[in-house]
Amino acid sequence: MSSLEQDILELQEKRAIVELGGGEKAIEKQKELGKLTARERIVALLDTGSFHEYDMFVEHEERNFGMDKKVLAGDGVITGTGSIFGSPVCIFAQDFTVMGGSLGLKHARKITKIMDHALKMKIPCVGINDSGGARIQEGIGALAGYGEIFYRNTMASGVIPQISVILGPCAGGAVYSPALTDFVFVVENISKMFITGPNVIESVLGEKISQEDLGGARVHAEITGNAHFYAKTEQECFEQIKTLISLIPRNNTQKAIKAAPIAPTFRKEIADIIPSDPKQPYDVRDIIRSLTDGSGFLEVHELFAPNIVVGFARIDGETIGFVANQPLYLAGVLDCDASDKAARFIRYCDSFNIPIVTLEDMPGYLPGVDQEHAGVIRHGAKVLYAYSEATVPKITVILRKAYGGGYIAMNSRHLGADFVFALPSAEIAVMGPEGAANIIFAKEIKEAADPNAMRAEKVKEYVDKFANPFVAASKGYIDAVVEPAEIRSQLLHALELAKMKDDQRPAKKHGIPPF
Ligand code: HXC
Repeated sequence: MSSLEQDILELQEKRAIVELGGGEKAIEKQKELGKLTARERIVALLDTGSFHEYDMFVEHEERNFGMDKKVLAGDGVITGTGSIFGSPVCIFAQDFTVMGGSLGLKHARKITKIMDHALKMKIPCVGINDSGGARIQEGIGALAGYGEIFYRNTMASGVIPQISVILGPCAGGAVYSPALTDFVFVVENISKMFITGPNVIESVLGEKISQEDLGGARVHAEITGNAHFYAKTEQECFEQIKTLISLIPRNNTQKAIKAAPIAPTFRKEIADIIPSDPKQPYDVRDIIRSLTDGSGFLEVHELFAPNIVVGFARIDGETIGFVANQPLYLAGVLDCDASDKAARFIRYCDSFNIPIVTLEDMPGYLPGVDQEHAGVIRHGAKVLYAYSEATVPKITVILRKAYGGGYIAMNSRHLGADFVFALPSAEIAVMGPEGAANIIFAKEIKEAADPNAMRAEKVKEYVDKFANPFVAASKGYIDAVVEPAEIRSQLLHALELAKMKDDQRPAKKHGIPPF
């Protein structure tokens, strides 16, 4: 055997040791929990054979608390590059079998190095998180590592897509990097996110709670909104990531790759989806599906604040961001969570050159003490800010109700919409006819011989006057009143025109949105 052959053999042996992560016993434990290993996850997500690993022989330098005797494979994280549907990505995956995927300084530096690559090459960065947080033995080194990651997350924000996949108990500092990224994916029974684990909560607060109830996948997908995508299995989660990657551009200087245009396959007419009774709900996702290529729609934040629907689809092969009130939930009102959800999505689309189509049907912001105290003014203002700030093509279709603040907030002409269309069924007014009639005709109703008949008459008077799109159209606030069957062709035309849009804004360092 030549010395080169011997060296190659030695390299292969060294690689095999690192590839075994925390060893067979730890891998067995990982499997018992229904989890793939970090390496299996990378292979499952990336195009076959595309993964190139870097820094596999990086070692930690901690000497305290017995760490001098510990050899940690790859310091508990695998980093490298690969591709998804041929698009290059940078990737890291924390290995829970190696000291619980805990983050020491070298572990962090592997991550920041691959993040720097992603930012320099202007390609997406995917992080698979499965970690007990800051490596307790390393103390300040671990904290420094987190800080360096958070700094890069912030520098990369709005420049390259950043995707976080939570595939284990992400605790402590491990949760904040995902929170700074664009999209967080969670998997039922596997993902957990909390800043302090149940054991700490029990010892400090004396409260007993399971990891699942504290910060399980469902909690973050439905209640906190920290997670944007929820899957039943890791494999389903990877399919969701692939679909997302296929719909978004590589960086903020590019557009998403155009697909071959196809007609919608969802066959129900829009006129048949929207009930003639304005009090009857319907699923706005059916409207979206009847407008999009192949009726595809990747919903973002599906389980969080369902009174607003946001997500990506294609029209004429181009990626579009949809923002739509959902009459199925709370009549599609804007509340604190819905405002956060919409504003964040609008800003994502604006950062990454994705035109926004807004479908409006809502009675306004949600009133009430709970919402006022929860900060509906501050949260609601985010929607106004996000729409006004966005310079990508912005098109609104008013389907039915557009009342009060909701009319303004949902990408009205006044916030800079490029095109506003309304169906003949649209009702554009300061408030709903009943509420309006009760206030402005209170005296007539009270003094009438038959108050109910008088109320009905006054409601009709208000409806005839304002609950239609023609008053707004007469002022030029709406560009066209269109028939339901004409919406897609109007959108195709408007989106084509808006490709040339050039919307310059005054120079400033940055604005101060109502975070
Ligand atoms: C060092 C850790 C670790 C950590 C886990 N391990 N977390 N080692 N530092 N942070 C080790 C365990 O000692 C164990 O080692 C192995 O990883 C697997 O952990 P288990 O506890 O056996 O696993 P499990 O029962 O599944 O519980 C997972 C867990 C729990 C819920 C994550 O380990 C846990 O609560 N860890 C601490 C979480 C935490 O409070 N982190 C906050 C750190 S402070 P052996 O050798 O036995 O296999 C922080 C601040 C940063 O992050 C703030 C930045 C803003």
